[in-house]
Amino acid sequence: MLDGPRSLCVLGCGTMGEAIVAGVLRAGWLPRENIVVTARREAVAERLRTRLGVAATTDNLAACEAAEVVLVCLKPQRFADILDTPKMRAALAGKLLISIAAGVNLDKLARWLPQTALVRAMPNTPSLIGEGMTVVCRLPAETANAANDEQLGLALRIFASVGECLEVEAKLMDAVTGLNGSGPAFVYVMLEAMADGGVMMGLPRDVALTMAAHVFRGAAAMVLDTDMHPAALKDQVTTPAGCTIAGILTMEDGRIRSVLARTVQEAAKVAAKLG
Ligand SMILES: NC(=O)c1ccc[n+]([C@@H]2O[C@H](COP(=O)([O-])OP(=O)(O)OC[C@H]3O[C@@H](n4cnc5c(N)ncnc54)[C@H](OP(=O)(O)O)[C@@H]3O)[C@@H](O)[C@H]2O)c1
Repeated sequence: MLDGPRSLCVLGCGTMGEAIVAGVLRAGWLPRENIVVTARREAVAERLRTRLGVAATTDNLAACEAAEVVLVCLKPQRFADILDTPKMRAALAGKLLISIAAGVNLDKLARWLPQTALVRAMPNTPSLIGEGMTVVCRLPAETANAANDEQLGLALRIFASVGECLEVEAKLMDAVTGLNGSGPAFVYVMLEAMADGGVMMGLPRDVALTMAAHVFRGAAAMVLDTDMHPAALKDQVTTPAGCTIAGILTMEDGRIRSVLARTVQEAAKVAAKLG
């Protein structure tokens, strides 16, 4: 049944960890008895046992010793304490570790865990509803910590359980964090602002929000499904002297393109300093 791991440990099973485990269980390629998750507090471990039906413990080391693949979903501030210890180095030697932490780059992980194959991944919160986008990377093949194709495939399989995936070069991960990790929050702001415009012109708030959300979903699907450039799609709906081009010129007056592009740039710069 499996060409994946025989056992998966999720270290620090909070919001993202739980979403990923739930997705893997939904996808059905890994039995729940092959998964162990960890938490800082026993009460949380108990809640995870009930909610996910998997083993849960507060003993990170024992969980890592028992698993073949470790998915680290801890906050970046916890990484050094938990991973940079001689016992953890031994527990993870020869295994695959996948980290989703913002700002913790592969070079740093490689210094802590010199004998562990590494994959870094940046999912986003729509993963919670199976609509995520996860971008992964690994170190070059000649590097000691490089994940092989099978290990990368395994990481992709995990994240494919909660949405779409793609691979980029490791040096691009801060940009990925700024666009893919932070991106949903930027879209929420844009979506709310457009709904505000509808409210200003008399729409009830709930109607305006529903409409705005579907506009984003529909427009995104047009880009993905037609493979047309957004500019071409925009040109299709701008009648000469019409209302849409009038709205677009107002956006351009507000320098919306540079504001949004700089938003991603700024988020990426901050992401680079997080680890
Ligand atoms: N949320 C996002 O949009 C997003 C997107 C991409 C990547 N990420 C990355 O994903 C990671 C997790 O984010 P999150 O939003 O899922 O955070 P979260 O909900 O806070 O999850 C982290 C979990 O780790 C647990 N933890 C803390 N110390 C621990 C310990 N010593 N042993 C075991 N577990 C411990 C926390 O438990 P307590 O609450 O008890 O401390 C919490 O349940 C972060 O590194 C973040 O950068 C997040």
